[in-house]
Amino acid sequence: MNFYSRIITVFAGVVFFGAAIAQTKHTIIVKANQPIAEIQPTMWGVFFEDINMGADGGIYAELVKNRSFEFYKPLMGWEIHQKKFNEGSVLVLNRQGTNISNPRFVCISANDVAKGDLSLTNEGFRGMGIKKDLQYDFSVMYRQAVPGVKIHIELINAKNEVIGAAALTPPGIGKEWKKQSVSFQSTATEPKAKLKLSFEGKGVIDLDMISLFPQDTWKSRRGGMRADMVQLLADMKPGFVRFPGGCIVEGHDLSLRYQWKKTIGPIEERQMIVNRWNSEFAHRPTPDYYQTFGLGFFEYFQMAEDIGAAPLPILNCGMACQFNTAEVVPMDQLEPYIQDALDLVEFANGDITTKWGKVRADMGHPAPFNMKMMGVGNENWGPQYIERLKVFQKAIKEKYPDIKLVTSSGTDPNGERFEYLDGELRKMKADVIDEHYYRRPEWFFQNAARYDNYERNGSKIFAGEYAAQSDKTVSVKNQNNWQTAIAEAAFLTGLERNADVVVMASYAPLFAHIDGWQWRPDMIWVDNLRSYGTPNYYVQKLYSLNKGTHTIPALLNGKPLTGQDSLYSSAVIDKHTNEVIIKIVNNAPVAADIVFSVDGVKRLASEGTMTVLTGESIEQVNSLDAPLAISPVAQSLKTNGKKVSASLKPFSFSVIKIGMK
Ligand code: AHR
Repeated sequence: MNFYSRIITVFAGVVFFGAAIAQTKHTIIVKANQPIAEIQPTMWGVFFEDINMGADGGIYAELVKNRSFEFYKPLMGWEIHQKKFNEGSVLVLNRQGTNISNPRFVCISANDVAKGDLSLTNEGFRGMGIKKDLQYDFSVMYRQAVPGVKIHIELINAKNEVIGAAALTPPGIGKEWKKQSVSFQSTATEPKAKLKLSFEGKGVIDLDMISLFPQDTWKSRRGGMRADMVQLLADMKPGFVRFPGGCIVEGHDLSLRYQWKKTIGPIEERQMIVNRWNSEFAHRPTPDYYQTFGLGFFEYFQMAEDIGAAPLPILNCGMACQFNTAEVVPMDQLEPYIQDALDLVEFANGDITTKWGKVRADMGHPAPFNMKMMGVGNENWGPQYIERLKVFQKAIKEKYPDIKLVTSSGTDPNGERFEYLDGELRKMKADVIDEHYYRRPEWFFQNAARYDNYERNGSKIFAGEYAAQSDKTVSVKNQNNWQTAIAEAAFLTGLERNADVVVMASYAPLFAHIDGWQWRPDMIWVDNLRSYGTPNYYVQKLYSLNKGTHTIPALLNGKPLTGQDSLYSSAVIDKHTNEVIIKIVNNAPVAADIVFSVDGVKRLASEGTMTVLTGESIEQVNSLDAPLAISPVAQSLKTNGKKVSASLKPFSFSVIKIGMK
């Protein structure tokens, strides 16, 4: 136990950050004229996976759960109300023979019913978040053998009051499916609303794809994404978006793997599957968690483009999750998987005269998405992975030599499995090796120098999934507290310092719904109406918004700061703005007085900024009610020639930015 951890232990329970005892003054030499490596524009990105209701029930703004009756229990999420019992007035039908993607629908037989006599109510994803005075788009697919049924559409609040209503009487008769839509305004805000469809009149009508979207979606796209959630990502200016995962790529078994071709085109033709996180943890079952793919590959590419991030799709490599079934496709049946990868390049980048380029254009995006990299496999391991990966590598590189391939080093950042994969991947001259670390905060501090002695040539590193675990991996006790965030901030100095080796990094998982999560910690938490960034989010954001163009030395007594006196630091210059940017973590319970002396400049601008992230205690967290409790606070900083002095708060992460003359 070192001096500072002893102090923390003594004060455990009343952890405080106000201690006045300052450390000895340190002078850190920053060599602005000695760029070590170029920082890739992709350096700081985001990892998106449909876990914790991140997509369905989260960023995908659909409010109706089980809109197409394809859940294992077809009426899950729906409740039938009948004034008079009438057997068979609501039937679930299955047209498996004629529609494989979306076989089920409901048939309503109304026999002279009055409004309120027969209704179907949808509970939403842990309720529906409804905002006062906002327009909502209701739509339904229908066909009717006997016309005459009027549908009353009502939003109901927790007190059973109507807070928005519309009605429609679908026209026509026949076997063809049609779509009807109506928009209406809500009269109140309600976090846990329901949608009630009451039938009136006499007739027989089939209903499918019953949908409700708010109109305040990201870029006001109809049927789009929750704007507040996308905005939090956009605010980070991420270099890339990795999607769709994560284990979701692998699937519980191969039949449940993520297949991008089934996630594009008209939404009623996207074949839904159970979400693999539905039953993953016995302690957090989520039986109503499915993937509708309303948010599919087209939408992922589009979102990445919207926020200026490079798309990084990860594809299944012919292996299901090795924690689950560990199914592998036989080598002689790998071809469709390879074809999916090749076709994805054409879908993303191909001319509109190509088969898949035309599909993209028909969906509304004739211009290419400019995809430059792709992952093969998520957390896959063993010789079975390498054997399959080699076939992918050969096929993709032959046809698309410029596409960079991201490859898996498994689940852990060390151990035999990791060593084996790292060795094999380097022999294969893998472009980028994806490393994952879900570890305790101590690990992050101890590994701030992890990449200082890594192989400089050959394969590059993608820190593709990481998060400090305040308890342990998959523990429900994990918190996004300040201790985890500061540990990550310290570790990231090591990635930035080694930008010649580490070319991309992303925290994981990204989103979690407070009523629907399976895994914690997570970077951004939401309920049906609100969202907030954790302290970990602000660490990511500070790195991304201050990424600079070149990493430079920041030295204490001639050495990088990797924990001496609990200090961790890295520095960059930005050649576009001619600024020097220093990141520094003080992981001590006392302030640290630092003089930064910047070599290689005539002088510094007379004033710079110091942005500080800190908490009142290492256990402190942000929450929906206190979303900014731990968030960056900027102050100005006077310089003196080539020097600048700063007092670093106890347990703080600071970003100092100064113009160079
Ligand atoms: O981020 C949660 C999960 O952690 C990912 O799906 C998987 O890749 C890793 O094990």
